[in-house]
Amino acid sequence: MIAIGSDHGGFELKEAVKKHLETRDLEYKDFGTYSPASCDYPVYGRAVAKAVASGDCDRGIIICGTGIGISITANKVKGIRAALCSDCFSAQATREHNDANILALGARVLGEGLALKIVDTFLDTPFSGDERHKRRISMIEE
Ligand code: RB5
Repeated sequence: MIAIGSDHGGFELKEAVKKHLETRDLEYKDFGTYSPASCDYPVYGRAVAKAVASGDCDRGIIICGTGIGISITANKVKGIRAALCSDCFSAQATREHNDANILALGARVLGEGLALKIVDTFLDTPFSGDERHKRRISMIEE
């Protein structure tokens, strides 16, 4: 189950990502926002992060205008490794090296086509499982 959330800046892209997940038969839970009306990104970043940290959802996708505010928020939740990605190389590397559990996107930064490719790359890339990466990830929480 994928947790998804955005503020108003990411609302339109969130709807496009949801449609894309449906075409891939991937289940998601939408934590809002549910309209383009102005709202506060920490509310949605935290809701998605808590769903992933608790194990209710396996992965998360969070979107705001830049992806910055919402990723900063998500990374305050213990156990969350949220990666703000604007390219497929980073999306692949953060899964392989950081075992990132949340993808953050900037809707005012990316076109929809690239954003959906980044989503696919993030969801389809497994963690490498290499000892050095496991060690470094465990050091993050120390
Ligand atoms: C909202 O205008 C904007 O500040 C927000 O979407 C995001 O970019 C914050 O980091």
